[in-house]
Amino acid sequence: MKLLVMNGPNINMLGIREPGVYGSQTYADLLAFIQKSADEEGVEVSFFQSNHEGALVDEIQAAYGVYDGIILNPAAYTHTSVAILDALKAVAIPTVEVHISDVKQREDFRQISYAGKACVKTYMGLGFEGYRQALLFLKQYLTQK
Ligand code: DQA
Repeated sequence: MKLLVMNGPNINMLGIREPGVYGSQTYADLLAFIQKSADEEGVEVSFFQSNHEGALVDEIQAAYGVYDGIILNPAAYTHTSVAILDALKAVAIPTVEVHISDVKQREDFRQISYAGKACVKTYMGLGFEGYRQALLFLKQYLTQK
């Protein structure tokens, strides 16, 4: 089982950006955490992070026929990007949406998730653990499918 873990803008700044919201661990720490979870579960993972909407769309398109599932934190593009939503619908790869913070408890402009409309599940407010939950969910979801 091959999963693609995608992160959007400013997730590479973890550890520096708003530690009160996103914690003090870095993006490298996040990748190590997910890799460890994947190894424990016998799942193959690849990572992609970009600050550019089109690059995220390109990566979703390139995932077609390559990956069984996607774990996606679109970051700020969650709340703005119809292009990412359309790309997810185009490839129809089972995708789980993850947010480190609890966006439901934050500003009004974060209350809409376009990408989430094409996702089979969403985890938010669990910190890094949300990515592990997404991996566990997808493993079960894809095995049952
Ligand atoms: C985020 C929440 C988004 O609203 C924000 O723009 C981010 C990160 C999260 O992981 O909590 O950049 O997706």
